[in-house]
Amino acid sequence: MNSTEGLIFATGKSYTTSSCRIPQGGNAARVDGCSGVMWVACPFLLIPTRMSEVVIITGASSGLGLATALHMHKNGYVVFGTSRNPEKYEKQFPFPFLFLENADPVSIQSCVESVLNQTGRLDILINNAGVGITGPMEEIDLTDVKDHFEINCFGPMRMIQAVLPQMRKQKKGLIINITSIAADMGLPFRGAYSAAKVALERMSESIRLESHSFGIRICNLAPGDFVSNIAQRRHYAPLDKESPYFEMYKFSLDQINEHVDKGIDPNHIVRTIEEIIKTKKPKVRYKVGAPLQKLSGVLKTLLPSRIFEKLLMNHYKL
Ligand SMILES: NC(=O)c1ccc[n+]([C@@H]2O[C@H](COP(=O)([O-])OP(=O)(O)OC[C@H]3O[C@@H](n4cnc5c(N)ncnc54)[C@H](OP(=O)(O)O)[C@@H]3O)[C@@H](O)[C@H]2O)c1
Repeated sequence: MNSTEGLIFATGKSYTTSSCRIPQGGNAARVDGCSGVMWVACPFLLIPTRMSEVVIITGASSGLGLATALHMHKNGYVVFGTSRNPEKYEKQFPFPFLFLENADPVSIQSCVESVLNQTGRLDILINNAGVGITGPMEEIDLTDVKDHFEINCFGPMRMIQAVLPQMRKQKKGLIINITSIAADMGLPFRGAYSAAKVALERMSESIRLESHSFGIRICNLAPGDFVSNIAQRRHYAPLDKESPYFEMYKFSLDQINEHVDKGIDPNHIVRTIEEIIKTKKPKVRYKVGAPLQKLSGVLKTLLPSRIFEKLLMNHYKL
């Protein structure tokens, strides 16, 4: 349905994943797809009012995406979450889910189309879905690294390409990429993860410049360690006892997983997301995490490179 023409009923959960659901007792409303102004039909008058902003949060079934989706839904945003198993999560959580597989361009296109068919507009994309990958760089299968780039870099890029035409049409739109503080440096046994995140950050910096005049705001939000299910979903290059890296890799894996388990509550990211949404001119990059993690990128630029490397090696006991 094209919202510039149609009458829709807009109240929080009134949107469904398959069609526009008309709530019992909802207010009849006409939505202007470009301005975001909703005309609410009262008994005698059509009153203009700001409509709830429409947001897609990829990877909303768990961790940072779920915390963000629950918060935004509670605060009146029209939230569409995504998952590779939407039916499973739709029953558990109070906002609709759409199918999305980051490595599948068709699913990306149909996810965005489905939202636009139901609402006629899209105000915010939170490009959050992603996974981890670990392994010694000498041994890691590069096919796995390519697959990882499909999920953590090209998928989010395709998502951006899919939403930009509508955002340009609206002359307004906000895209927040959830990247990682790990993008600041090559971390041991996490080279592929750091590389995919930094590649996404750089491409987004370019898009930011290119799309500024169309009213698009785009920024990177880099978390440190947060409690989530990332360790369970991570791709692990096998721990091979014959490998010369066995002991170092095993130690690093234990350390990485411990850091996530002892990480910050995912709800903390929500404050920064709210801050970004409220500001007219977001920074290029935000960081959220423990003070030392946030400081690490700064230290890398300030300290002589070999001293910074020595600190990293001490930290990871290499
Ligand atoms: N937790 C941390 O410490 C941390 C630190 C830095 C950056 N990050 C980043 O934060 C984001 C969220 O991670 P998280 O920690 O919240 O992890 P999580 O709890 O494992 O959640 C990951 C989300 O991504 C979705 N997802 C995974 N693979 C996908 C794929 N191939 N296609 C589409 N969706 C997929 C999952 O949905 P389904 O499985 O339901 O499809 C899930 O909702 C990621 O981009 C991650 O790299 C996390």
